[in-house]
Amino acid sequence: NDIVLTGIKPTGKVHLGNYIGAIKPALQIAGASDCTSLYFIADYHGLNSIQNRDEFRDLSYSIAATWLALGLNPDRVIFYRQSDVPEIFELCWILACLTSKGLMNRAHVYKAIQDQNEQLGVDADTGVNMGLFTYPILMAADILLFQSDKVPVGKDQIQHVEIARDIAESFNRVYGDTFKLPDYIVDESTAVIPGLDGRKMSKSYNNTIPLFETAENLKKLISKIKTDSTLPQEPKDPETSNIFLLYKEFATPTQVQELRDKYLSGISWGEAKHELFQVVNAALEEPRKKYYDLMAEPEQIDTILSEGARKARALAGPLLKKVKSRIGRYA
Ligand code: TYM
Repeated sequence: NDIVLTGIKPTGKVHLGNYIGAIKPALQIAGASDCTSLYFIADYHGLNSIQNRDEFRDLSYSIAATWLALGLNPDRVIFYRQSDVPEIFELCWILACLTSKGLMNRAHVYKAIQDQNEQLGVDADTGVNMGLFTYPILMAADILLFQSDKVPVGKDQIQHVEIARDIAESFNRVYGDTFKLPDYIVDESTAVIPGLDGRKMSKSYNNTIPLFETAENLKKLISKIKTDSTLPQEPKDPETSNIFLLYKEFATPTQVQELRDKYLSGISWGEAKHELFQVVNAALEEPRKKYYDLMAEPEQIDTILSEGARKARALAGPLLKKVKSRIGRYA
């Protein structure tokens, strides 16, 4: 039975891109098959950018409350906070020693910052701390420590899963077969959910629709989704419409068919946005309420996460021991 693992870092409010690209498929897998699912808050990954105590704490709880509000069942999913599992960081160091610096130089996230700095005419490494530079090694430790088979993610994380495979292969080559090579699961149709401006929805582009906004804010944000200048009565292509793409994720098949027909016969963008708001708001009403209830009771979240960490550590212990014996740590 497959081991399925994924994480979210607490660097901003969870948005529709995170939900559609990672959380929704992960919850579907956990509910539908007899796999072992491990879903976690990648809090120490977030530390390379969130260095304000209150913000770091609140965002970490917020990610946890989001998963739970959306229906994660802690009896079926091992649900934990990364920083509660010290085995990850011990493995991370060992893996760092088997990772060439060149591999990290080639990581997209790091290269993007270097390019940006170059354009600004400042030193290429401005604003890059070692946590950010070595980020993919920590992610490899997250994945490899549990012998994960499948990692459900959005497209922006594919390279990181490939790097985890590369690092696993390096270790296996030097010390003999130890780590499983993980695969990513990316659904082509939802691999990159666009944000308000049409670019990838991303906390760093400030173009997100956060999942648990008030209904009023949700409506306002949806009204800001960029559209083209086709007139209301002109037919529109549902397949190239960002509004339609989001609609499909929340509506029933009948509703989807109805909106498709309206697109083909002509619909104003205002009306399409209104339809989108209706289905998103209806789908998120209950979870939103649960989310705010949970956020008011962080102790309840702590209890669930500690129990998850206990289970995760029990799984991780034997493999870490094996790794340490492979490297010659024991007599
Ligand atoms: P993070 O926190 O940036 O994003 C969480 C998940 O949401 C997906 N995602 C998207 N999917 C589709 N369209 C979008 N616009 C969009 N924006 C974000 C991301 O691909 C991701 O799956 N490094 C990871 C966290 C992490 C992790 C791991 C993931 C740490 N360790 C181990 C898997 C396995 C990250 O920064 O995701």
